[in-house]
Amino acid sequence: MKFLWSGRFSKELYDIAKKFTFSIGIDKNLAEFDVSGSIAHVEMLVHQRIISRKDGSRIIKGLKKIQDEIKENKFVFKPNDEDIHTAVERRLFELIGPVAGNLHTARSRNDQIVLDEKLYLKKIIPELESVIVFLQKTLVKKAEEYFDVILPELTHFQPAQPVLFSHHLLAYVCMLERDKTRLRDTLARLNIAPLGACACTGTSFNINPGYIARQFGFDDVFTNSVDVVSDRDFILETISNLGILMIHLSRMAEELIFWHSSLLGFVDLPDEFCTGSSIMPQKKNPDVLELIRGKTAVLIGNIAGIFALMKGLPLSYNRDMQEDKRFLFESCEISHLSTLIVAKVIEKMKININKMAQACNYGYIEATDIAEFLVRKGIPFRQSHHMVAELVKIAIEKNISLKELDEITIERITKVKDTVSFIKNITPSKSVSLKKSYGGTSPKFVKKEIERWKNILK
Ligand code: ARG
Repeated sequence: MKFLWSGRFSKELYDIAKKFTFSIGIDKNLAEFDVSGSIAHVEMLVHQRIISRKDGSRIIKGLKKIQDEIKENKFVFKPNDEDIHTAVERRLFELIGPVAGNLHTARSRNDQIVLDEKLYLKKIIPELESVIVFLQKTLVKKAEEYFDVILPELTHFQPAQPVLFSHHLLAYVCMLERDKTRLRDTLARLNIAPLGACACTGTSFNINPGYIARQFGFDDVFTNSVDVVSDRDFILETISNLGILMIHLSRMAEELIFWHSSLLGFVDLPDEFCTGSSIMPQKKNPDVLELIRGKTAVLIGNIAGIFALMKGLPLSYNRDMQEDKRFLFESCEISHLSTLIVAKVIEKMKININKMAQACNYGYIEATDIAEFLVRKGIPFRQSHHMVAELVKIAIEKNISLKELDEITIERITKVKDTVSFIKNITPSKSVSLKKSYGGTSPKFVKKEIERWKNILK
């Protein structure tokens, strides 16, 4: 069986070479885009009078039939289909005969593959954006529902200061907003139509790349044919952006896993996203979230993979680039599913307010509030920090809370009379209310933030 490029060859491709070079398995994801790209190309060829209207109509009819076959999952791939482009052209020949030979006028697979990949991302990136928005909305809803709940915020994985649980959840929303805008930026940058670059130099035919650009809503047309067949920046960017998204999801997953541990019990993760142990009957393990962490490693691997693929590649097209798709498709699929899973877990998890409140009794998390109180009473911060540290030291030695310290000790160390009553009366909820600074965890500010996010995300 001959290939469409095999005219100058006297020997057939070795089987192992065939197996090695064929990309049809992975190209299947691009089938719908490849055909719609071809339809637009033929329309342009007719419009520019490069092929006749009659031939054009027959080719388009054939391509539409192929489009239906793909949609209905009836398209049959054959053993000698090298990639998606040749599979479609082969089928077109079967359907309409030699007139199919006009399809590839003024086009190369080198510009065609870039169009396919860009059309894929023009569909996939908005879909990713919408699952990110779904996760953001889920978080904002939870933040609203558990607005007053207080959590010991950690630094260095140690109790630091009380924070509104809602404020903590909104931190995730901020992270995701950056992920979303990064993807949007990439989409805006890749929205340049590549068809018409042909193999690498353009063509002698009077083509109209703007015609195809308009069909697919590209913002503009490429200006350099060498660049456009060589460029995979948009794939490097997309995978990098998705890597950052997955890093964020893995951090969220890690916190949820920690909160779900029966040692803490801040949350109870939904049964539908946990699994049991084959030996320990009591277990409810957060396997799905563990796999969010695990699959983040795959994304990091894909970033390394795509960067390694492109490093040092000379211009213009090189076959190495065919390998870009495995990294791209896998990264898009993992990110989409992971975002959706985290959203569903958060939507369905139960919050244990009491356990979070109890946890605020550990680690002397009101210490900074006491130091700041002393500053308001005229003591320089460095000094007040030392005073409170001394109180904490005594409390640790005696294995008691700061509230349980005796008045004489407090007064001896701070020499500020009202300190005793401040210490006795400070609570986690008073503590968060004191954090009135912009962007802080005061209920007043967080309430406004919830409203602001609701507006942004509606
Ligand atoms: N399948 C190739 C790719 O993914 C495109 C085909 C270009 N092939 C070629 N021999 N010029 O990059």
